[in-house]
Amino acid sequence: MDQDCYVRQTQDGIFIHRLEDFAGMRKAGVLAANILDAVGDYIFVGQTTSEIDRQIDRMIRAAGATPATIGYRGYQHASCISVNHVICHGIPSEKILRPGDILNIDVTVIVDGWYGDTSRMYVAGNPSRKAERLIQITHDALMKGIEVVKPGKTFGDIGHAIQAHAEAERVSVVREYCGHGLGRIFHGKPNVLHFGPPNSGPVLETGMFFTIEPMLNLGKPQTKLLSDAWTVVTRDKSLSAQFEHSVGVTEDGVEIFTLSPNDKFDPKNSSKT
Ligand code: MF3
Ligand code: CO
Ligand code: CO
Repeated sequence: MDQDCYVRQTQDGIFIHRLEDFAGMRKAGVLAANILDAVGDYIFVGQTTSEIDRQIDRMIRAAGATPATIGYRGYQHASCISVNHVICHGIPSEKILRPGDILNIDVTVIVDGWYGDTSRMYVAGNPSRKAERLIQITHDALMKGIEVVKPGKTFGDIGHAIQAHAEAERVSVVREYCGHGLGRIFHGKPNVLHFGPPNSGPVLETGMFFTIEPMLNLGKPQTKLLSDAWTVVTRDKSLSAQFEHSVGVTEDGVEIFTLSPNDKFDPKNSSKT
């Protein structure tokens, strides 16, 4: 990019960032990823999700960063922890993890005003074969969505790649929750859908920053919001999985800001030390 490229917004209200802004996102992204790498040590049968959240809060602050979720629309925790049939926005609690429980941990940090937002799946003990399969499919669906990212492609192309992989594997894509633009804000335009037709939606441009965060269910895609006004569950109580990366569109493709420094993001490698 040249010096004439200042922050601007597209007609759809999507921010176009400058080359130097990538450095800010990289710093926030790598911190969020490092925290998810380290949190694996605190996940075991008998552990509570509040204790996991306390460790996350401690690690974020020890790094001199801020948990973006605390105070966000009244949310009071440093992470969302979504167990089994919880799709997203699970609230850390004193409930203990049982053998075979699968959980998504979603962390968003603010570093120098830039947001890094990422989530992955973990298991307490050993997963069932169907849970392990759902987790791998969800990871792979996210990565297929990211592979599409390049100037000139569309947001619909991303959603289509994710949906095609999920449905070929006979799992369903949650429709009501989506990825989002981010940067110096937590949730901006556009809504990044994880389904839909190719060649639709806004065209990707260099300097766009956003998350991709597909939620896939073993059963039907329908969701239900619990009375705590946060927890989203599958209506049919089937298992759900989610993975999330924060990415930026570069001149020739994509930069993933939240890559694991220890290559632990792929569930095949999650037990690496
Ligand atoms: N990190 C979530 C996302 O991926 C948002 C959580 S907001 C909270 O967009 F308030 F629920 F924490
Ligand atoms: Co997000
Ligand atoms: Co998130």
